[in-house]
Amino acid sequence: MKDINKNLKDKVVYQIYPMSFMDTTGNGIGDIRGIISKLDYLENLGVDLLWLTPIYSSPKNDNGYDIADYYQIDPDFGTMEDFDLLLSEAEKRGMGILMDIVANHTSTEHIWFKKALAGEKKYQDYYVFREKEFVEDHPITSIFGGDAWKYIENLDLYYLHNFDKTQADLDWDNEEVRKETYKMMNFWLEKGVKGFRFDVIDMISKIWERCEMSNGPKLHEYIEEMADATYRNYDDTFTVGETWSADLEHAKKYSNLENTEFSTIFTFEHTMFGPDKWSTTIDLLKLKEIFEKWQKGMHNEGWNSLFYNNHDLPRAISRYGDDREEFRELSGKGLAILLHLMEGTPYIYQGEEIGMINRPWTREEMQDVEAINYFDMAVKKEEEKEVLKKIENISRDNARTPVQWEDSKNAGFTDGTPWIEVNESYKTINVKGALEDKNSIFYTYKELIKIRKKMDLIKNGTFDLIDRKSKEHFSYMREHQGKKLYVFANMTDKDIIISEMKDLEDGEVIISNYNETYKDGNLRPYEAFAIKVKSN
Ligand code: GLC
Repeated sequence: MKDINKNLKDKVVYQIYPMSFMDTTGNGIGDIRGIISKLDYLENLGVDLLWLTPIYSSPKNDNGYDIADYYQIDPDFGTMEDFDLLLSEAEKRGMGILMDIVANHTSTEHIWFKKALAGEKKYQDYYVFREKEFVEDHPITSIFGGDAWKYIENLDLYYLHNFDKTQADLDWDNEEVRKETYKMMNFWLEKGVKGFRFDVIDMISKIWERCEMSNGPKLHEYIEEMADATYRNYDDTFTVGETWSADLEHAKKYSNLENTEFSTIFTFEHTMFGPDKWSTTIDLLKLKEIFEKWQKGMHNEGWNSLFYNNHDLPRAISRYGDDREEFRELSGKGLAILLHLMEGTPYIYQGEEIGMINRPWTREEMQDVEAINYFDMAVKKEEEKEVLKKIENISRDNARTPVQWEDSKNAGFTDGTPWIEVNESYKTINVKGALEDKNSIFYTYKELIKIRKKMDLIKNGTFDLIDRKSKEHFSYMREHQGKKLYVFANMTDKDIIISEMKDLEDGEVIISNYNETYKDGNLRPYEAFAIKVKSN
């Protein structure tokens, strides 16, 4: 087996949502050439891997998570030549590309599905086509709302779609589907990609008796098979599975550091605080507990992913911090310090490193199929104002507004009309300004990436919460080979006192979000810093 986890603990991933990253053609949609044009910027930040959300040919009903052809670049994003250039230009700068593998479903525009609809049994077996009786016995609700079964009249059959009706679930119990997937992955590995992010991978094996769509009996068997057939044959790859339903036990199977299925996985407990995804209030005590559970639970037995936001989640500062102008920078830096000094692989979602924030949405402005479906259903039961507030707080569109490069028109993202609203905050929040200001959030991220690579303690230390009952601060201690690292973060807009800090006068402050740090236990609004204490 190849050394698939080489330098795993050093790596930092930057997530690119190509549609909203940088447009070079003026069609209002970001493209591969746009990514190439910003590689120097990403090299400057210091990240190792660039995860691109899907750029394959797609009708984009779910912005590319509905793939029509796994072997083609969507013309909106450019050509295969552009992609090859991206690979080599990234490599020159010491960065690798991760592709997004969406193998739980294809677009209904995929040739397999079209053949299935045309009556070809072979391709019907690629998907989950069922008769009425089965469907009636297995009621399933789509994750994007409504019935997950869609009736096809001329076949007198239903097909399963756990997401949009244009995203038909594949049947992984069909060996041919698995082989096709591995063949496609090897195509991209041969090109030189450094690994993959796997979309909703825990859904590939289903538990039909209980109508549960994740964590089925063959899940780990199929992943083992996939790893053997693909990335285990390549050196130094990085893989991350998106696993909404993983508990600790599954997580350790996925990423056990030795015979690992994936380098790491995404879990989402820390992003959900209520009966559904639209619930907004964050409970700090619970947040701390969740991080503690995963930090302790995975230590030496698996490897965590560290992230606050991605293309499916609202902006970190708006969700976990304080996006009011007077606190935005402090709170953004504080959140970064808090997360990046934990154990696991950190991910930076485009724009996070300059502190981008949420915005309010009108029904007309919304682009996301999930938000639109939710809005249309929720307004029947709730006040429109309330629903819009939830959308402003949680909607995926918040993550998808264009990266704010400059304070000029359309934030420098496009010369044309952007496919989605530009966040009005671009006049003050933009990359150009962030690079010019040595005190900006950008430089906190840059520093954190450097620190991670230098400090074994961050990669291997134990994790213990400090003052777990405090509703004001989130603080913890890491320890490794006699060295200790204390991280304190005031999560409020007020001055607070932390009594646990009194013995740390001799410690060295390695990073802070205020210019001057006092070690006397008084923390100013959103103050966050880390203190290293020398060995005893
Ligand atoms: C994942 C993706 C999301 C997509 C869904 C269906 O959760 O991150 O964007 O809508 O899967 O593919």
